[in-house]
Amino acid sequence: VDAEPRLRREINANVANGARMYDYMLGGKDNFAADRELADRLIAAQPGALASVRANRAFLKRAVRYVTEAGIRQFIDIGSGLPTMENTHEIAQRAAPDARVVYVDNDPTVIVHGRAMLADIGPTAVADADVRRPEAILRHSEVRRLIDFDRPVAFLLLGILHYVTDQEDPYRIVARFREAMAPGSYLVVTHYTGDDNPHEVDGSIKMVRKSPASTVPVARTRDQIERFFDHLEILDPGIVPVHQWRSDRPYSLDQRFYLWAGVGRAGVGRSTASS
Ligand SMILES: C[S@@+](CC[C@H](N)C(=O)[O-])C[C@H]1O[C@@H](n2cnc3c(N)ncnc32)[C@H](O)[C@@H]1O
Repeated sequence: VDAEPRLRREINANVANGARMYDYMLGGKDNFAADRELADRLIAAQPGALASVRANRAFLKRAVRYVTEAGIRQFIDIGSGLPTMENTHEIAQRAAPDARVVYVDNDPTVIVHGRAMLADIGPTAVADADVRRPEAILRHSEVRRLIDFDRPVAFLLLGILHYVTDQEDPYRIVARFREAMAPGSYLVVTHYTGDDNPHEVDGSIKMVRKSPASTVPVARTRDQIERFFDHLEILDPGIVPVHQWRSDRPYSLDQRFYLWAGVGRAGVGRSTASS
């Protein structure tokens, strides 16, 4: 059975949705009035939000370039979002045309648009799966087709772990991905935080909770985010505001931020302990 009609039926234009709000904030066209309305309110409540989503994409570019230059040729980009200007496969395959990328998302709009964009594009695929079921991602046929877990892989978890509640245990999920990482693999994370602006972030979360939105983010502290990197070597400059990670542009240390960013590497001979 063709999955496309089923996915299209699942798209609900009346409920604001994280992937489409994010697309709108990045200047994309794959969004509806409900998404734009809530995103505009979010931007009004959190004036740095637009700069933050752009900084997140700029970080994706720097981090993917970095790990590709370090020799990585396989990427699993989980919570990949709607295709936008520069996507992981474009960044990686520019440096290494043989780089393989599997995009994973559970949003029907993302899957439909992702598949349309990737039709006929080399070693790249889209998997319809939920980060809260890491085992299903690791066993997914598209992941198995393109990813060899005996070789290093980069797991990208940008802007997604804050959609996993404490009850759903994001540490268990990331530990499962870490177990699948061959030595020399990378974990790349950005995560929503109120560390810099607790009142603003608290207000935004309350606003989203009261709106007809599909998902409400969970802000976490730097220490909580650092725990995702247990058993990994955290690369310099550490867990830092997203715009500061190996940035080639000057930035102000006073700049507001809503996302922590970090990159960890699985060492050779590390134990595969889960946390
Ligand atoms: C804010 S966007 C981030 C997009 C991209 N990773 C980036 O950082 O630019 C979050 C994405 O995570 C996806 N997402 C949210 N919860 C998810 C889940 N439980 N499983 C898979 N994807 C999920 C959303 O559909 C959305 O596309």
